[in-house]
Amino acid sequence: MFVIAGVSGNTGSVVAKSLLEKGERVRVIVRDAKKGAIWKERGADVAVLALDDEDALTRALEGAKGAYLLSPPSPGSSDLLKEKRAFVDALARAVDRSKIPHVVFLSSIGAQHDDGTGIIRTVAYAERRLAQTSAKLTFVRAAYFLENWGSVLGAAAQGKLPTFLPPDLTIPMVATADIGRVAATALLEGASAKTQILELAGPRDYSSRDVAIAAAKVLGKPVEADGAPLAAVVPAFTSFGISADVAEQFRAMYAGIIDGTVAFEGGSARLVRGAVDAESLLRGLSSAATPAS
Ligand SMILES: NC(=O)c1ccc[n+]([C@@H]2O[C@H](COP(=O)([O-])OP(=O)(O)OC[C@H]3O[C@@H](n4cnc5c(N)ncnc54)[C@H](OP(=O)(O)O)[C@@H]3O)[C@@H](O)[C@H]2O)c1
Repeated sequence: MFVIAGVSGNTGSVVAKSLLEKGERVRVIVRDAKKGAIWKERGADVAVLALDDEDALTRALEGAKGAYLLSPPSPGSSDLLKEKRAFVDALARAVDRSKIPHVVFLSSIGAQHDDGTGIIRTVAYAERRLAQTSAKLTFVRAAYFLENWGSVLGAAAQGKLPTFLPPDLTIPMVATADIGRVAATALLEGASAKTQILELAGPRDYSSRDVAIAAAKVLGKPVEADGAPLAAVVPAFTSFGISADVAEQFRAMYAGIIDGTVAFEGGSARLVRGAVDAESLLRGLSSAATPAS
């Protein structure tokens, strides 16, 4: 039995589906029983709980061979780092109490650093805290999600792809389907060492200009990357209803990408390249956003 969190989200859904397709027993974690119904139909056991409910999470993890866990977004938080530290502390205590032997945790590119990475500090803390548990650990340090571009596809359709990155800065990016598949494989393989780190990127790295070229192909019209300064991050994110604190963590993350702090560690971390390229990912997002006629 494998326990999977975040199954109503991008990566957890792929992890759970991949394991069910391989005939594995799966228990999914949902906060809302209604979101569990579809998984029950697919043959999964459903546990309804919030991940920071230490007792409930302990019970859900007990007896399982492995679990996929993540630190979900908290866009409204007024003190994100404090909130996420408390969240991860509860998660880590549940991991220890349940005696689960293997945890695959969704981390991020740049999580080797404790500072200079903005929002990525939340998963850096999670890596350090989970390392103190008795479980074996696979940290999936995912690159910048290709799905992040979904929120600006509407603007791209008007000819400009907004970006807080210098348009020619090339960085690793990855589709969440690749993350889910890699995490499922990691669970199936189990862990031999106490900790293994997978640094996960798509088939190639991209600049914002490359993404604009992919968007132009998908949309069938010219699209150019439109770089905005870092000073524009907080006003833009808060205008979407994200708290000032979280918006500032995103600004610091973009600063860390630009100055090179948010990068893969290399060394003993294993670089894994997924299969989904920017154009196919954007095509999927674009057709999902277009109502069928
Ligand atoms: N965006 C990036 O570029 C990037 C890069 C590297 C790593 N990451 C990491 O990826 C994470 C997001 O992963 P994702 O895209 O797979 O997730 P997602 O699509 O944002 O979905 C979050 C999932 O977590 C669940 N959830 C939220 N709060 C919960 C709680 N308290 N207890 C139980 N479940 C809870 C949600 O369930 P509900 O349906 O109940 O809300 C949903 O299933 C980020 O938070 C970050 O740590 C992101």
